[in-house]
Amino acid sequence: MMIQVILFGYFLTCVCGDGVVDVVLSCTLVEEGVGMGGMGGGALFTRTPATLVLKDVAVAPDESLETLTPFVPPSIPDPDAILLEVKVSSPEIPNAHVLLHADCNQQEVMCELSRYSPDGSQESSEPAYFMVSLNVEGVEFSTAFILQTLAVEKDQSTLTQNKLALPLSSSGTILTEVIFLVFSHIKSVSAPLRGDVLLNCGFKQQEIPVAQEVAVEWRLQHRGKGWKVFEMKTRLDDAEGSTVVHAERRGSSMKASEVVGQGNASVTLTELKVSDVGTYICTVSVGAFHAQQVVQLHVVQPPHISLSQEKLVLKTNSVQTLSCHCTKYYPLDAQIEWLSFSPTDTEPTVLPDQGSLSSHRQHADRSYSLSSHLTVPSGVSPGTKITCRVSHRALDAPLSLSLVVERPEAGSYGWVLGFLIITVLFFYQVMR
Ligand SMILES: *[C@@H]1O[C@H](CO)[C@@H](O)[C@H](O)[C@H]1NC(C)=O
Repeated sequence: MMIQVILFGYFLTCVCGDGVVDVVLSCTLVEEGVGMGGMGGGALFTRTPATLVLKDVAVAPDESLETLTPFVPPSIPDPDAILLEVKVSSPEIPNAHVLLHADCNQQEVMCELSRYSPDGSQESSEPAYFMVSLNVEGVEFSTAFILQTLAVEKDQSTLTQNKLALPLSSSGTILTEVIFLVFSHIKSVSAPLRGDVLLNCGFKQQEIPVAQEVAVEWRLQHRGKGWKVFEMKTRLDDAEGSTVVHAERRGSSMKASEVVGQGNASVTLTELKVSDVGTYICTVSVGAFHAQQVVQLHVVQPPHISLSQEKLVLKTNSVQTLSCHCTKYYPLDAQIEWLSFSPTDTEPTVLPDQGSLSSHRQHADRSYSLSSHLTVPSGVSPGTKITCRVSHRALDAPLSLSLVVERPEAGSYGWVLGFLIITVLFFYQVMR
């Protein structure tokens, strides 16, 4: 039965009453290897398949539940299987309905569990704790939560899970409930240079608070270095009297009232600089429990573009260049392309000679500038439109600037014509 569940994909679900379903996830139990020394001291992990059943996940009334297949617990409890049953009604997992559609949308669900020991407690004592981290690929859904095992009424028939040494319920599951969870609605966020950004992080705990002390810490990790950006310590019962804030990064803030009242541990960063780019780790601690979420911050600044001249008048006997300047953008990768569109063409074409690029210039704010210099093709006909097209990550669509090549001025034509007439007249006189 278990094998069947896993083979069917990431989960199967069943309708269990009005607006609630069970979500069954195939997960991995990750354990730090013990007694496996001699491998250079590096941590070794063993990975064992496990199944997580989220009971009673709330779904919207308009959600179609027809395609859902029922989950059936194994008919004969298997003490080797790791089957965790989770009561999720309180606290609820925000956006858990995302999990219902991940399978249909072929999104991969990342589910990892590991034993957890709250500060100062013995790992093997009951209740036992697990840390679960859930992520859905391609969707802004991420959460980490702590499960606490529920007491099982033991009798002669009670089985014990072989690997975890925990008593199994009559249906062969380890019964648990969520006691604390940390989540984020965003995995990655982009903001412009000198702009502001809100890095999202939130937490929930059981209605009967496990503790009154709350600490929120935001760290930034970038290229192997890490440092603390912001820290707040407060109490759920006395935010005003006990809040301590360390805003290590200038222009970082969080509201104690949001932390205490809403479980909102989001941090605001103002006046963004390139040095703010990186991986942010939000750690929320409530009493002895702590869990983390990760948010990536990208700084993106779209380029300004300009052409070296407003007009391009054709000259027959000298080389002309046209430059396209692309300034103050971030990050580095920008693409400059030249196109031409002559009156006889049906559509613009990319010029075969794309000119030459300057080297990147970096400004004090670490944004970049780049120029492309085009040698105007000698055969170009008047009326041709020349376009500089710039693509960059900060732009939804490429930016373009164009100019139309103008025919040589009428004045010089007149002079040439005059000269020609005089020459013809002169020869006419000579020949007579
Ligand atoms: C969380 O708090 C910040 C202020 O620190 C606020 O801007 C944001 O809107 C809040 N988010 C939610 C979901 O309430």
